[in-house]
Amino acid sequence: MLNRSPRTVSRLRTVLAASLTAATIATVPVAFSHMDRDEPLQSFRQSYFTLVAMNFGPITAMLKGDMPWDDAKVLSLAEDVKALSTVDVLRAFAPGSDKGTTRAKPEIWDNSDDFAEKYRAFQASADTLLDAAKSGDKSAVGAAVKELGGACKACHDEYKSKDYLY
Ligand code: HEC
Repeated sequence: MLNRSPRTVSRLRTVLAASLTAATIATVPVAFSHMDRDEPLQSFRQSYFTLVAMNFGPITAMLKGDMPWDDAKVLSLAEDVKALSTVDVLRAFAPGSDKGTTRAKPEIWDNSDDFAEKYRAFQASADTLLDAAKSGDKSAVGAAVKELGGACKACHDEYKSKDYLY
């Protein structure tokens, strides 16, 4: 997944740019503020992680008591986190997508196996979270959230910078 050739990336860019143009024509005047035509893979992975965080966050908020606990909502959010975990974001870290508006550290492209392994850990933790949410056991959800949060942190500590890099 991480060894896409620059040609494939540029073809992907062309396809994305073309579909973006078509969508723009069809829906003027919608602005695609989160899809940068010159950096589609950076936009892909940043949008992806935003979605992950927006579905994971409310579960942690419910555990902390910042939102009322709701079994059905926890289950539905955990299902969405699980669904997102099956969209393989590693393809959005193809060679040539390391620069631009990004917080992705260059180490990702030097240690792609380790990066992929940390992503697999995240995917496995999303499974654990869904199982816990299905059980309806709040303490199991708490443990699973801790595990999943640990998987985010393990990757961010090594591979995500606090600020934009370039
Ligand atoms: C395998 C590594 C990895 C895992 C696991 C991971 N992230 Fe990230 N995350 C990244 C990288 C790298 C970026 C920076 C992407 C960029 O700027 O191009 C990022 C960016 C983000 C962003 C910022 C998105 C934006 O607006 O630019 C959020 C929010 C985020 N991650 C949340 C999470 C959460 C929550 C989890 C766990 C549930 C998680 N991430 C798991 C690597 C990871």
